Amino acid sequence: MAKTQKVSTGSVRCFFLVVVSAAALGYLLLYSVQEPSQISIKEVVPKIRNEQATSSHLNQVSKSTKYSLTQNNEQKLVSSTNGTHNPKTFLSSKPTNQSTTTPIPLTKTPNKSVLTATAYAKQLQFSLESNSHVDFSVGDTIRVVFSAKDQQNNAIITNIGDYFRASISTLQNKSGAVGIITDHQNGTYTATFRLLWEGQVKIKVQLVLPRQAIDVIERTIREHPFDKVTFRRRYLVGRVSVDTRCNIDPVVFNGTRPVCDYSDPHAGGRWYCEKAANISCEEPGYHSYILGGGAKNVLRPGEEKLVGRTQRLDISGSPSTITVANGLDILAERKRCLPGLVTPQINGFYQQGVWNSLVCHNRHFCNQLEWRSCLRGKNLHFFGDSTIRQWYEQFVKILEINDTMLPEATHQTGPLFAEDPVNNITLRYRTHGPPIRTGPTRNTNIKYIANAIDEIKGGPDDVVGLTIWSHLTANPVELYRERLEAIRAAIQRLQQRSPRTMVVIKSANTFIGGEVNGGDWLAYRFDQVMRELFEGMDVVLVDAWEMTSAQQWHKDAIHPTSDIIVQEVEFLCSFICPL
Ligand SMILES: *[C@@H]1O[C@H](CO)[C@@H](O)[C@H](O)[C@H]1NC(C)=O
Ligand SMILES: *[C@@H]1O[C@H](CO)[C@@H](O)[C@H](O)[C@H]1NC(C)=O
Ligand SMILES: *[C@@H]1O[C@H](CO)[C@@H](O)[C@H](O)[C@H]1NC(C)=O
Ligand SMILES: *[C@@H]1O[C@H](CO)[C@@H](O)[C@H](O)[C@H]1NC(C)=O
Ligand SMILES: *[C@@H]1O[C@H](CO)[C@@H](O)[C@H](O)[C@H]1NC(C)=O
Ligand SMILES: *[C@@H]1O[C@H](CO)[C@@H](O)[C@H](O)[C@H]1NC(C)=O
Ligand SMILES: *[C@@H]1O[C@H](CO)[C@@H](O)[C@H](O)[C@H]1NC(C)=O
Ligand SMILES: *[C@@H]1O[C@H](CO)[C@@H](O)[C@H](O)[C@H]1NC(C)=O
Ligand SMILES: *[C@@H]1O[C@H](CO)[C@@H](O)[C@H](O)[C@H]1NC(C)=O
Repeated sequence: MAKTQKVSTGSVRCFFLVVVSAAALGYLLLYSVQEPSQISIKEVVPKIRNEQATSSHLNQVSKSTKYSLTQNNEQKLVSSTNGTHNPKTFLSSKPTNQSTTTPIPLTKTPNKSVLTATAYAKQLQFSLESNSHVDFSVGDTIRVVFSAKDQQNNAIITNIGDYFRASISTLQNKSGAVGIITDHQNGTYTATFRLLWEGQVKIKVQLVLPRQAIDVIERTIREHPFDKVTFRRRYLVGRVSVDTRCNIDPVVFNGTRPVCDYSDPHAGGRWYCEKAANISCEEPGYHSYILGGGAKNVLRPGEEKLVGRTQRLDISGSPSTITVANGLDILAERKRCLPGLVTPQINGFYQQGVWNSLVCHNRHFCNQLEWRSCLRGKNLHFFGDSTIRQWYEQFVKILEINDTMLPEATHQTGPLFAEDPVNNITLRYRTHGPPIRTGPTRNTNIKYIANAIDEIKGGPDDVVGLTIWSHLTANPVELYRERLEAIRAAIQRLQQRSPRTMVVIKSANTFIGGEVNGGDWLAYRFDQVMRELFEGMDVVLVDAWEMTSAQQWHKDAIHPTSDIIVQEVEFLCSFICPL
């Protein structure tokens, strides 16, 4: 029953508009944050009365405790063994079949320590599953199997728990979709694809990290759970600035000074700063990230060959390209976009660079008028890292509205506010609570997401979108889980007091970064925890992970290009004004 699968004409029509609106936004790069040389000394020491004007302060500095040296050491013991505030044991969340027990030794490799990811990738080969038929059409599912082979084509390395990515694409047409990787725990892996468009389709399987590299990353987190990144609190006293160190656990301060405890168990956050002499813990200051302030040499000699910056190494295989004929109309009979829908593992695909969701009937907008009419009367509240600030920025651009910088804010952290008074649309953004790697910003600008959600009254015209991942991956995943559990509880409270408020979770996206503090493996692993925690909730999931890994025409980037962001916010709007 071969129906013609057609690109919706709307999608094609809108594509050019998207490209035009894709003029680069000047994002501040997360990992290249410039430490401002100094805060202008014109800035006066914040007055307490100013602080009281911003209600955020009260939530932020929930309590301030001075620890004596010995108390601090106790604190250190408690927090590094069984959790300061939440003494329950956390389940360690592992992606399916990525067991982290004893690594399988690399056999028949002359010198284990010099096996690089590149050398290993060269030994890997994929082929079509033996029982596959040879003609393919839209709607078919195909599988390729892969494992490492020697020159005689014998399997030589039985590596378990490697991290791969797989995709199908037709670059000329900007079509793309992901494949699902299955680790059979015996050195063989399978990538499963759904064929979703007709034409010449390229099959790609990439090694992101071999298991040995993942073991190294996980070891560095065990050995350096808190000190890979360090933060600062700065006070301005007259013309002098006084700096103290801050971190998620006071253990990194080495017990040399009293410590202020800014932790907020209600919001699932732990935060400590060294106490500055003669300055009270309540005194507001400026938060920032100390570039290069973390632990040195977390890798052992030779390991940088395994764990460098993220690389995606194509593995060879056959067939590398297949021809797909007309088949099912994949997009027929899609559901209406409503919160709470299940997101399958392959949940959409690109065609002409436009995202077609398989979750529900997603929308595309051809002009500003259509965007405006979708968003009329809506209040959008975005919380989290810079990857959701991109949504705010994109909407400001699409609606061509004024982004009013609040006097105490920075663009990086917010709070930001923009308004379209004619169409009665408001946009807000603010960053999540610490740890957050940013240039200096008032501590009061930084608020835990759970607390920010608690301040929203909610209503049928309110949309609350959040994302949190990249700034937390340098620390143990249990702390991330703690944070998300608090956010989940805040969402439940919000949905209780205002069931019609729309809640949107944006997943992580893929990116190239230092794998030890971030990078794809940690982002992926943390994202699994997020999905598990929000599963079954009445929320919208914008699967930015899939939307960034399905495309093959841009390099992975922490801040995806605006053509991708447009697909994300169109998907969001598909729920705000569903078809
Ligand atoms: C947890 O910390 C307390 C001290 O507050 C200690 O008595 C107890 O043994 C610790 N439990 C574990 C499992 O480490
Ligand atoms: C493996 O190679 C490294 C670096 O070339 C060398 O230092 C080491 O001794 C070698 N190990 C063995 C077991 O040959
Ligand atoms: C993981 O392994 C278990 C048992 O080894 C198996 O039942 C399950 O299907 C596997 N899951 C995936 C996603 O491969
Ligand atoms: C590995 O496991 C898969 C799934 O159980 C099986 O189909 C395959 O034959 C196994 N391969 C080897 C080399 O044992
Ligand atoms: C691109 O898409 C068109 C329309 O669906 C199709 O006819 C053409 O074969 C595709 N190009 C490739 C290289 O697959
Ligand atoms: C921490 O304390 C130990 C023992 O007192 C000392 O050897 C070490 O140098 C200190 N480290 C830092 C970073 O102050
Ligand atoms: C703190 O105050 C005391 C008493 O006023 C003074 O002696 C001391 O020098 C001050 N310390 C600093 C670091 O300013
Ligand atoms: C603006 O939108 C809000 C809901 O967000 C609504 O309550 C209000 O009546 C609207 N105002 C106008 C002038 O349309
Ligand atoms: C943006 O702000 C400027 C300066 O306040 C004002 O002149 C302009 O009309 C505003 N534009 C819109 C679209 O509100």
